[in-house]
Amino acid sequence: MFPLLYHTHHCLHSQDIPFWLSLADHCNGPILELGCGTGRVLLPLARAGRQVFGIDNDPAMLSFLSHSIPGELSQQVSLVQADFTRFCLKKQFELIIMPCNTYSTLTEPDRRATIECLRNQLSPAGIFAVSMPNPYLLRHLPAHAEPEVEESFCLPTNGQPVQVSSAWNRTQDVFTLNWYYDLLFPDGSVERISACIQHQLTPVKELLEEMREIGLHPDTLYGNFDPSEYTQTADHLIILASPVNNLP
Ligand SMILES: C[S@@+](CC[C@H](N)C(=O)[O-])C[C@H]1O[C@@H](n2cnc3c(N)ncnc32)[C@H](O)[C@@H]1O
Repeated sequence: MFPLLYHTHHCLHSQDIPFWLSLADHCNGPILELGCGTGRVLLPLARAGRQVFGIDNDPAMLSFLSHSIPGELSQQVSLVQADFTRFCLKKQFELIIMPCNTYSTLTEPDRRATIECLRNQLSPAGIFAVSMPNPYLLRHLPAHAEPEVEESFCLPTNGQPVQVSSAWNRTQDVFTLNWYYDLLFPDGSVERISACIQHQLTPVKELLEEMREIGLHPDTLYGNFDPSEYTQTADHLIILASPVNNLP
C-alpha cells in the first residue's frame, strides 16, 4: 500500500520533472537514478526515449515500479535492487541523479560512501545532480509543528479518498518529518498509514566540502527547478557536481 500512497501523493508534486528532462537533454547515453522509488522521475525519462537504470533498496517500491513500466518501455529500463552506498555497475554514466530529498536523509558516512561509489560510475564529462530541501530554510523553521492537513487525493486504483497531513520536530541537526496518510472509508472509519523521514540539517558549506574531498566538484547550485540561483531562502538546494579528473 505504501508505494501506491507515495506515488499518488508525490506525483502531485512533479514540478521537478522538466528540470530532470532538461538535464538529460544535455547528456548522452544512459542515465542512472539513485533511489528511483516508484519511478516518478525514471518513467518520464524513459518516455523521453532515454535508457535508464534505477537503483533502490526497497523491494516494494521496485515491485510497484516494475509493474508500472509499459511494455513499449521495458527495453529501456533496468532496475537494480541494491544499496546505493555500496553499489557497482559495469557501466559509466554521463548523468547520475538523486531527486526528491533522498540525499538529505543520509548521514555523513552514507553520503560519503554514496559519492565514492557514484564517482566511479561517472564518465569524465559526467554530472551528478541531486536535489534536497534547503537545509538553511529547515534550520530556521519552528522546532515543532502539530499535524496539519495538507491535501487530499483519490487512489487511482479504487477511487478511495486519502487525506495527507504532516507534522515535524526539529533539533539543531535533524528535521524529523511525519507523514500521515488517512484512508477515509464510506462508513466514517479511518485507517492511518504513517511514514517518518529524517532530514540531516548539514550546512551547505559542509555538503560541498564533502563532495570536493571525494573528487566531485560542485559546479552549480540552484534553489529551485525553474532553475533559479540558490539563496538561503530558496525552497530547495540542487547541486550539480562533476568529477575532478586529476585526482592524485
Ligand atoms: C524519497 S524517495 C524518492 C523516489 C524517487 N527518486 C522520486 O523522485 O520520487 C527515496 C527512495 O530512495 C530509496 N533509498 C533510500 N535509501 C537507499 C539506499 N541506501 N539505497 C538504495 N535506495 C535507497 C528509498 O527506498 C526510496 O524509494
